[in-house]
Amino acid sequence: MKILAIESSCDETAAAVVEDGKTVLSNIIASQIEEHKKFGGVVPEIASRRHCENILDVVTQALDGADCTLDDIDAFAVTYAPGLIGALLVGTSFAKGLAMATGKPLVPVHHIAGHIAANYLTDGSLKPPYLCLVASGGHSHIIEVLDYTKYHVIGRTRDDAAGEAFDKAARVLGFPYPGGVHIDKAAQQGNDQAYTLPRPKITGSEFDFSFSGLKTAVINIVHNADQKGEQINKNDLAASFQKTVSEILVGRTIAAAHEYGYKTVALAGGVSANSSVRGLLESECKRNGFRLYMPTLDLCGDNAAMIGCQAYYDFLAGRRADESLNAVATLSLDDIAV
Ligand code: KG4
Ligand code: ZN
Repeated sequence: MKILAIESSCDETAAAVVEDGKTVLSNIIASQIEEHKKFGGVVPEIASRRHCENILDVVTQALDGADCTLDDIDAFAVTYAPGLIGALLVGTSFAKGLAMATGKPLVPVHHIAGHIAANYLTDGSLKPPYLCLVASGGHSHIIEVLDYTKYHVIGRTRDDAAGEAFDKAARVLGFPYPGGVHIDKAAQQGNDQAYTLPRPKITGSEFDFSFSGLKTAVINIVHNADQKGEQINKNDLAASFQKTVSEILVGRTIAAAHEYGYKTVALAGGVSANSSVRGLLESECKRNGFRLYMPTLDLCGDNAAMIGCQAYYDFLAGRRADESLNAVATLSLDDIAV
């Protein structure tokens, strides 16, 4: 079964053709990063306009790349939630048009479910149930993946997402948007013991996250040094920040795996490209005897192949949308069980 999937939840216009949730026949991404960089972050209005301009070309390239026409496609899939509403509406409307014009099924996919599914594309041996750490620009979650289409969120961020904290810390260090990858590179030249940064104390759920205090600590260190006319070592601060974020993410995930009885752990979302998060999760899983799955680097960030993969499982579970499908800016994975 060939699914043509569309993803437009943030600043990437993406389309892919995926066969049987396993084989990526094409995976096209038109990034808008260069344009948003000028503003230090994503400008929603610009993102929507660029999606409108790019989507036809991206979908055409995905079909051509897979050596397909619309006749060869069995179903369409689209990210309908969560994300920037104007951005989501472009992909959702385009996908509805394709489904209505061809009379073929439309499968609505949750963006985070897509990120998790990137792991099935990377390694076909992964099967639910397992525990997944999702860290992206908009989310930091620890999730029980109970089945291919059933989730239970056991930890979430109380304030900034991990990727957001990376981007804000990077900004104050003078790196361009999106800063996560620049922190990652700078950290490789730095001493991660140079700065002691705060670790949040969270009342309530021991598996929730909070990164705003840590982000503010980095901002204060930079501003205080500026005021005193002192130089800070950017590489050292990047390394110390990255180490602290990694330890918080990985520490809570390992604790949750023990608490909920999982021996299989997966990683997902844009921050899963981070070398320190990957390295620490790998060593901690090994130490605890857990099996670890991580997406290949090309599938960590936003892409439509992961949406096409998840759509296959959603399709098998009976999930369909009709012309009334609307985009949703905020929607918990807990609320979408098929
Ligand atoms: O999943 P994603 O592509 O978009 C959302 O769904 O939000 O995640 C983007 C986030 C950005 O905050 C970006 O800085 C971060 O992932 N990111 C990284 C790295 N690569 C991307 N953060 C840390 N280290 C990286 N190597
Ligand atoms: Zn994402």
